[in-house]
Amino acid sequence: MRVNDNVADDEWEWYIGQIFSRLIENVCQAEVNNVVEIAPGFRYKIAYALKNINFKETLYVIDTSKEVLKYIAEKYKTILPDSKIICINKSFEDSFADVPNKIDLLLSNHCIDDMIIAEYMQTYYNNNQKNENFKDMLKEAWIELGKDENKIDEISNHIVHIFNDFFKKKKINNIIISQYKSNLYFNEQFKEMDEITDNCFYSVKSLITMDEEKINKILDFYPFGEDERYRGKYLLDNTQNAKNWIVGKFKNKSFKS
Ligand SMILES: C[S@@+](CC[C@H](N)C(=O)[O-])C[C@H]1O[C@@H](n2cnc3c(N)ncnc32)[C@H](O)[C@@H]1O
Repeated sequence: MRVNDNVADDEWEWYIGQIFSRLIENVCQAEVNNVVEIAPGFRYKIAYALKNINFKETLYVIDTSKEVLKYIAEKYKTILPDSKIICINKSFEDSFADVPNKIDLLLSNHCIDDMIIAEYMQTYYNNNQKNENFKDMLKEAWIELGKDENKIDEISNHIVHIFNDFFKKKKINNIIISQYKSNLYFNEQFKEMDEITDNCFYSVKSLITMDEEKINKILDFYPFGEDERYRGKYLLDNTQNAKNWIVGKFKNKSFKS
């Protein structure tokens, strides 16, 4: 995500939601009766996506922040009034027993960077999510983490293991996770977040069978029609490019770090 405007940009939420719903419609062959979402933050892209596909079933939302889940419970109810929203106030790693063993669809928008930095910052992360200086705190933490290769490897390996474990223990029909580059990446002064996240994301992606060509065809669309802002290379090479998405099924091969 864009490290941290505290208030969501509704147009951006809608735009990313359009991409998710288009992917869901094109890759999910069977009915989608239960969905798990990891780490929504104070955002609602996935709710918009599920609204687009007329989802009326059960959504499990996992986030370590109580405040986030309070927000999600209220916000998602307005967008998805006919769905059952089950909020799980745990880390992804500790939430396995709280979600079904058979999952139709696992969704997450841009969670890998957040999982990395939250693990690095520990309670300092969760206690400050609503702090107006959170953006600066995050930036400082990323720059500090960027100097510690061992810590980057340790945290990244841990996160890949969590996903691998989850994929192994659950039967998941379809997995859709994004990790496009943040706006900050294009600001020459701050690349640590996206560069540190890349390896971890690609390792999680390597656990999944994915047809990149097919996904790129699905992503080749213009949600804003004639709106020139959304037709440039920046988005087609970033948010609407398969390289920045995980879309598919677990390969079920053992992972070695
Ligand atoms: C910035 S938000 C995520 C961005 C959001 N999905 C979006 O669409 O822009 C990060 C969220 O991840 C949560 N989080 C971080 N690490 C987590 C973990 N290991 N398990 C569950 N939630 C986590 C935080 O509590 C926070 O609410």
